[in-house]
Amino acid sequence: MSNTPVVELRNVTKKIKGKPIVQHLSFSVQRGEVYGFLGPNGSGKTTTIRMIVGLSSITEGQILVEGHDITKSRSQAMAHVGAIVENPEMYGYMTGMQNLIHFSRMASTPISKERIMKIVELVELTHAIKQKVKTYSLGMRQRLGIAQALLHSPSILILDEPTNGLDPSGIRQLRDHLRYLAKQENISILVSSHLLSEIELMCDRALVIQEGKFIDEISIHNQPEEAANALSVEFEVDQAAAATAVLQDWQAKTGDHGKVTIMAEKSEIPRLVSLLVAQDISIYQIHIKTESLEDRFLALTKGGTQS
Ligand SMILES: Nc1ncnc2c1ncn2[C@@H]1O[C@H](COP(=O)(O)OP(=O)(O)O)[C@@H](O)[C@H]1O
Ligand SMILES: [Mg+2]
Repeated sequence: MSNTPVVELRNVTKKIKGKPIVQHLSFSVQRGEVYGFLGPNGSGKTTTIRMIVGLSSITEGQILVEGHDITKSRSQAMAHVGAIVENPEMYGYMTGMQNLIHFSRMASTPISKERIMKIVELVELTHAIKQKVKTYSLGMRQRLGIAQALLHSPSILILDEPTNGLDPSGIRQLRDHLRYLAKQENISILVSSHLLSEIELMCDRALVIQEGKFIDEISIHNQPEEAANALSVEFEVDQAAAATAVLQDWQAKTGDHGKVTIMAEKSEIPRLVSLLVAQDISIYQIHIKTESLEDRFLALTKGGTQS
């Protein structure tokens, strides 16, 4: 089972009153990863998440959670999902603990007091759990919401724009927190945002959508040196046309003054040099252009409304 994606969307389309809101979306979230869902406002993130958590029907396609089709085996599938989609409903006049006990009673299988305490510790609310929720900061309320979503030990935690309304320190805490959770609980996290900077900080991989459609899936590496993403590499050679032919598999484009630009991973460069040298092409310079993820996102979603 461990190779089964925790969540898998297969060619999912959602139409509302005949209007396509999400179109042919496919992606999967692997165990233990923090997967980002990035797109400008109005691109269909919430609509997609509402389908995954069973709050909205699927027009076409299929969504699987731990291999269970959410339409055909709804309760088996939902048993593995923990989510905060709209603002979690917490009772302000009750303590954090009373809220969690209240929600734990609604679970289909009993949840032990030990489990609740462990989660409270995970979300770092031990110090405040006996206080009334109305005294909590937004960040604390959100962590209580996460605790609630984790009560039944889901394999995926789904958070829709969780940083909305948080101040920068709250965002930082949330980010550290989600990464910690993913590790400690070996849980997958699907988190949406319209801000690349946040996705970049929180996630291992991210799906980029626009107007309900797949644009790209990106890997995010926290150490840029280790990035395995294709880089734009410019060679300056004595025979640009010949070099372009040799490097055609790397989308080579011929430029001015003997320049040939390709897309390749850093680790491929020595081999590319050998290929050129084997054809008696002289290399004067190699220039690697590192494109920031921000550049890529803006290029990918150009024309999208950003805020
Ligand atoms: N119930 C609905 N009826 C009609 N249009 C909707 C409905 N829900 C969402 N939409 C439209 O679908 C698009 C995507 O919305 P949404 O999923 O909320 O985007 P996001 O969460 O990425 O901001 C928007 O254009 C929105 O107006
Ligand atoms: Mg939304």
